[in-house]
Amino acid sequence: METVDILIKNANELVTLKGQNKPRIKKEMSNLEIINKGSIAIKDGNIFDVGKNLKYQSENVIDAKGKTVMPGFIDSHTHLVFAGSREFELDMKLKGLTYMDILKKGGGIVYTVNETRKATNSELLKQSKTRLDNMLIYGTTTCEGKSGYGLDTETELKILNVQKKLNEIHPMDIVSTFLGAHAIPQEYESKEYVNLVINEMLPKVKKFATYCDVFCEKGVFTVDQSKKILEAGKFHGLAPKIHADEIVDTGGAALAADVGAISADHLLMSNDYGLKQMAKKRVIGVLLPGTPFSLMMKDYAPARKMIGMGIPLALATDLNPNCWTENMQLIIQLACLNMKMTPAEAITAATYNTACAVGLNDTVGSLEKGKQADIILLDCPNHKFIPYHFGINLVESVIKKGIIIIDKPTKLRNKKYILT
Ligand code: NIG
Ligand code: FE
Repeated sequence: METVDILIKNANELVTLKGQNKPRIKKEMSNLEIINKGSIAIKDGNIFDVGKNLKYQSENVIDAKGKTVMPGFIDSHTHLVFAGSREFELDMKLKGLTYMDILKKGGGIVYTVNETRKATNSELLKQSKTRLDNMLIYGTTTCEGKSGYGLDTETELKILNVQKKLNEIHPMDIVSTFLGAHAIPQEYESKEYVNLVINEMLPKVKKFATYCDVFCEKGVFTVDQSKKILEAGKFHGLAPKIHADEIVDTGGAALAADVGAISADHLLMSNDYGLKQMAKKRVIGVLLPGTPFSLMMKDYAPARKMIGMGIPLALATDLNPNCWTENMQLIIQLACLNMKMTPAEAITAATYNTACAVGLNDTVGSLEKGKQADIILLDCPNHKFIPYHFGINLVESVIKKGIIIIDKPTKLRNKKYILT
């Protein structure tokens, strides 16, 4: 009998999402390709075999009886590297101040930029590493991280360098996005700043990032400015992503289709024309329900309408000081309970489709032979429990590149309290 490094057997549900190598749309989002009583064999960091009753020898056999096994979550939109915190803004939000009111008062992004500029490399590294640890504990095995709290060349480079270092030292795989156009720093006029992003920052940051993003929003960057920046990013080899129509409909969705973006993110206020263009060009809609939740907004992105139109949907946390969560399980819960996605659609959006949104669907996002062994084991009998049993961490084990990184983080230590 052949030997493998790890054999997981007897999973009540093995959620594979196998079989399609492009972003899933419409009904495809509902098909999780579940194997009941499923097994998965892992060797040399990769998935060696997937099926029922696999017969392999292993020193590491995990009995997943009564549990759910699935691909690790991929968080395709985070602002991972920042310094400080903004818990004081909650009182302002409760008094009725909007996101833009707080930004205009020198809070919001501008506040975090000042903190991040002051922080040393090692402070930034330490604070961001804790966030990566939390992500892993909650089942995220790959994430995207954006710069954007520097807004000057030196600090944008500092953030991207910290991210590079984290990618080297931490089990998490991190995809880097340059978001120099996150806000207009107080010391610049918008036109001048757009020129700085294009002429000075892009040539210097290009080797540290895969994607270029813009906060295309009323009062921040216009559609024309965003287009200029994203086209310049393309010229330097960075594929476009967009923060589109988060607060006001400015035509960000149509711009995403126009520039050939891999994804357009937020999309709370997008018009139908823009959404149709996205569907036509298969631009992935990355929905971030943590943001309207943390801003106490009553409206969420119209996920049902988007699925009906044929937009491939992905989910992500938008982890940032305004919406601070590392927990993709919470995002699935919000997607189901507040955006009416089904559990299967939300799980597709939090695994395979979100892998597509960072261009990594050939290696992660589904459990298939030859793919990277990024696997989570959940202490629940089926996938529907993820949005159903909310507010706790259902993840029991996390395997990253074939290595067990997290094991039973939820068990009480003292034997006295363990029921046998
Ligand atoms: O995606 N909208 C722009 N950027 C972040 C918020 C950043 C912040 O408030 O610090 C977002 O929601
Ligand atoms: Fe964001």
